[in-house]
Amino acid sequence: MFDFAPTHTATPKPELYRELVSAALALTQGEPDGVANMANLAALMWTYLPDLNWAGFYRLAPGAGELVLGPFIGKPACIRIPLGSGVCGTAAATAQSQCVADVHAFPGHIACDAASRSELVVPVTAGDRVIAVIDLDSPRAGRFDADDTAGIGALACAISTRIGT
Ligand code: SME
Repeated sequence: MFDFAPTHTATPKPELYRELVSAALALTQGEPDGVANMANLAALMWTYLPDLNWAGFYRLAPGAGELVLGPFIGKPACIRIPLGSGVCGTAAATAQSQCVADVHAFPGHIACDAASRSELVVPVTAGDRVIAVIDLDSPRAGRFDADDTAGIGALACAISTRIGT
């Protein structure tokens, strides 16, 4: 049985993300199956990060013009997102994290769960190529800040070699 969990509910965000990255590396260590690793990483983000209603991955195959849904926790979501569309497609097309305080104010936001109010999408890169994005949704407006963006960025960096097939 795995028993990964934050040490304390009041852990400051930078420390929480250090713990999350450390747990992610331990959990995926030695496992070559990228789908299995993404599934466990989605569960890990869900366990460590409060106030989420969706946490998971969209994948970008080499040369593909669209993202495809990967392992996640939350309500069923749209399966394919064209590059440049919505928050996820914008993050993938620009290779830039998108921290959106109010999804209703983001042009082209794609609503997969009506409860979502804010969203953080961080690209996962291999060299200079985007191979996936990590997507977090929250029912609370303004849920994500610079600490979350940096923390999920560190996670994306740490696990990029562990989510391929
Ligand atoms: N809101 C995203 C779509 C994915 S779901 O949130 C799971 C977007 O605008 O790209």
